[in-house]
Amino acid sequence: MDKRDKIEKFFFLKEIGVNMLSPEEAEKMRRVLLIKPPSERFKKEEENKQKEVLSSGLSLKEKFLSEIEKEIAQCKKCPLFSTRKNYVFGEGSMDAEIMFIGEAPGEEEDNQGRPFVGKAGKKLTEMIKAMGFEREDVFIANIVKCRPPGNATPTPQIRRTCFPYLQKQIAIIKPKVLIALGNVAAQTLLDTKETITRLRGKFGKYQGIPVMPTYHPSYVIRNYTVAVRKAVWEDLKKVLALLNENR
Ligand code: SF4
Ligand code: URA
Repeated sequence: MDKRDKIEKFFFLKEIGVNMLSPEEAEKMRRVLLIKPPSERFKKEEENKQKEVLSSGLSLKEKFLSEIEKEIAQCKKCPLFSTRKNYVFGEGSMDAEIMFIGEAPGEEEDNQGRPFVGKAGKKLTEMIKAMGFEREDVFIANIVKCRPPGNATPTPQIRRTCFPYLQKQIAIIKPKVLIALGNVAAQTLLDTKETITRLRGKFGKYQGIPVMPTYHPSYVIRNYTVAVRKAVWEDLKKVLALLNENR
């Protein structure tokens, strides 16, 4: 008999007016009854957390995200903490259906502490608007939260070190789809060494969430050809089709 069975038997016997436990058995039962099954304890903790959060006026998502932001603000897990002016947490809607994932902050992002606010950001904003959204409707973040000096491509070691922050952001926001902008985002999210030219245009998966890899806006700026622009638009349209399918 497991704990639950014992508890059930106890109450059943009590209900029908039978109280036939020996003192030893009663003591055992008391101990059993004092300890709630883990699922119930967990539910209680969650309820309390909800209440606490609601009374402070923050939603659970806000609370969890702000906890991650605090961690990033204090993070010294890789050398980039010592050269950054600002960390770049990311911004947008906590309930976003789409998350755009870039590589790492550049100079302007480092200055402002906001993602994609430089030249590449302008291009990304155009992409978002072309899809019929505003920046506030989606969530924009990077694999790496601090700027690599000289905008160097972050090393695999740094990507690995910083990625858990994004993983938590994704787990909290729970978007319907991720758009991986460029090599670093696509390779990190899809855990592959394939390059973006091969990956783009085909949905991959990260933790069960569809990932559409496409060219990084900086790449689009540097290679402003009809072919590249068309490719990106094709990729974004696939994302829109996916969202429409599931409505
Ligand atoms: Fe920490 Fe990421 Fe910044 Fe490195 S880049 S210091 S891991 S937050
Ligand atoms: N490039 C990125 O990958 N991310 C930014 O936030 C800005 C430029």
